[in-house]
Amino acid sequence: MTTKRLILTTAAVMTIGGYFAVQSLSNGVQADDLQSAVDARRALMKEMTAQMKAMYGVVDARSGDLNDMAQRAQVVKSDAAKLPTLFPPGTSISDMPDKTHAKPEIWQNVGSFKSAAANLGDQAGKLVDAAKSGDMTVFASQFEVTGKACGNCHTDFRTKLQ
Ligand code: HEC
Repeated sequence: MTTKRLILTTAAVMTIGGYFAVQSLSNGVQADDLQSAVDARRALMKEMTAQMKAMYGVVDARSGDLNDMAQRAQVVKSDAAKLPTLFPPGTSISDMPDKTHAKPEIWQNVGSFKSAAANLGDQAGKLVDAAKSGDMTVFASQFEVTGKACGNCHTDFRTKLQ
C-alpha cells in the first residue's frame, strides 16, 4: 500500500468512527432540530426533578407510600436511559449561547458523559428495589446516592444556572 493510500484509508476509518460516535449520541434526533432536542432534555430534567422532590418529601418526613416511590424511581431510571439521546452535536453552550447550559465537554468526553447517565440509571434502579423493600432507612440512603448521581454529572457537564 502506498503512503498516500494509507493516509486516505486512515482518514476514512476515522471519519466512519466519528460518524458512529455521533450517531449513537444523537440517536433519534434530527440534526436540523437542535432546539427541540434542548427543549426535550430540559423537560426531561424537570420531570426527574419533580420525582426527586416528591421522594425527598418522603425521605425528609421518614414517612410515605413506598410503592408510589418505587414508581417515581422507575421514571428516573427510564429518563436516565433516554438522556444521552438528547444531546446531539451542535447543542453546547458554545453553539447556542443563552439557550442551554450544556458544556462542550460533553462532546469531548462522550464516554464519560454516557457513564454518568448510566450511573444515574443504575442508582435509580437500586432506588426502585430499595422502595420495594419497604425499608425507609434503606430507601433514604439510596435516595442520597441517587441525588449525587445527578450532581456529579452537573459538576462536570453543566454550566452554573443563573
Ligand atoms: C449525564 C449527565 C446528567 C445527569 C445524570 C443529570 N443531569 Fe440534569 N442536566 C445535565 C445537563 C448537561 C443539563 C443542561 C441541559 C441544557 O441546558 O440543555 C442539565 C440540566 C438540568 C436542570 C435544569 C433544567 C432547565 O430548566 O434548564 C435540572 C433541574 C436538572 N438537570 C436536574 C437533574 C436531576 C434532578 C437529575 C437526577 C435525577 C439530573 N439532572 C441528572 C446533565 C445531567
